[in-house]
Amino acid sequence: MPIQPQVQNFAIDATLVTDLVAQYGSPLLMLDCDQVRDQYLALAEALPGVRLHYALKPLPHPAVVRTLLQLGACFDLATSGEIALVREQGVPAECTIHTHPIKRRSDIADALEYGCQVFVVDNLNELAKFREFAEQAEVLIRLSFRNSEAYADLSKKFGCSPADAMSLIRQAQHWGIRVKGLSFHVGSQTANADKYVAAIQACKQLMDDVVAEGLPALSCLDIGGGFPVSYASNQVDIRAFCAPINAALAELPETVQRIAEPGRFIVAGAMTCVASVMGQAQREGRTWYYLDDGIYGSFSGLMFDMACYPLRTLKTADEVYPSVLAGPTCDSIDVICDAVELPKLEDGDLVITRMMGAYTSATATDFNFFKRATTVVLNEVIQLHQAEFGS
Ligand SMILES: Cc1ncc(COP(=O)(O)O)c(C=O)c1O
Repeated sequence: MPIQPQVQNFAIDATLVTDLVAQYGSPLLMLDCDQVRDQYLALAEALPGVRLHYALKPLPHPAVVRTLLQLGACFDLATSGEIALVREQGVPAECTIHTHPIKRRSDIADALEYGCQVFVVDNLNELAKFREFAEQAEVLIRLSFRNSEAYADLSKKFGCSPADAMSLIRQAQHWGIRVKGLSFHVGSQTANADKYVAAIQACKQLMDDVVAEGLPALSCLDIGGGFPVSYASNQVDIRAFCAPINAALAELPETVQRIAEPGRFIVAGAMTCVASVMGQAQREGRTWYYLDDGIYGSFSGLMFDMACYPLRTLKTADEVYPSVLAGPTCDSIDVICDAVELPKLEDGDLVITRMMGAYTSATATDFNFFKRATTVVLNEVIQLHQAEFGS
């Protein structure tokens, strides 16, 4: 059984939710771009002098891209599909980097054709792919710093040691490939800023070693994503979290450009999921409620991301009963939470889950032909409503 969502009595606009379900059906994901804007601005303020490239993967939605573009954000891309999305939204290619450490030749060619010129490599096989693109492209070498505390320890799958990075830099020099700098990702939902500090210090040492060896100085450090959110209350003091990171960055030469690739922090709080009870059954003293969204849909993050979402029913009552919330598919693994106290629900009643913006719809499937939740952009529907009916 994956991590279970927790019941929490958060505030909800019941009229808005029921109106939207009446209009767009269920399941629904309500996307609030004001939250995206607030989180972006909070992180930008907490990391002065660091250029933020929103990593599209947790929520590759056009409205998120438009919101961030208006704020002057940059973007972190990993696939040709992500390139197509930002391109459609009019993102200038100079504001993008391509950070997938493993690429087909066609992926590199697609990105270059768009105009994205900065790529990430972490091994010789990958570096060699840039010999034919040496005129147009430059690379960041990705380092690995293991982090067992993170939701996803990305350094297990990608990145190289500082010693291997040095060999790659020498080889790049030999092949005439420009090395722009270094990158790392300390792991998603990293609660401890020390991980960034240690990584930045190791990168600084490597940058010094590069200069000492007479190789061209590196001009960029990409500190990746991983910035945490609180699934319990959505309140992380991001300024306090980033203070030691800023102190470590201050030790780098001023000429080194600082960038980051936040994903989850920007979007986790921006989506709320609304699912409906499809049916119910009594089993072993508990009521099983079968919802129209589940592990194979918006709740895929329970499996892939280990996120612990806060949920509640729209209906409130003093009496609660031992209940199970299950997803709609025929698979027995499709259970959202199996030990939860809920009011007595009727078929059609709504279950609301917060903090569903990151790694939810992005990793949902169509298993069993249950349709994925419709995403409704709140800011757009509210504007439409105001235009139609006045404020
Ligand atoms: C290369 C890269 N950059 C950025 C991110 C975003 O990380 P997070 O959502 O933890 O901020 C990821 C997540 O997988 C990633 O792989």
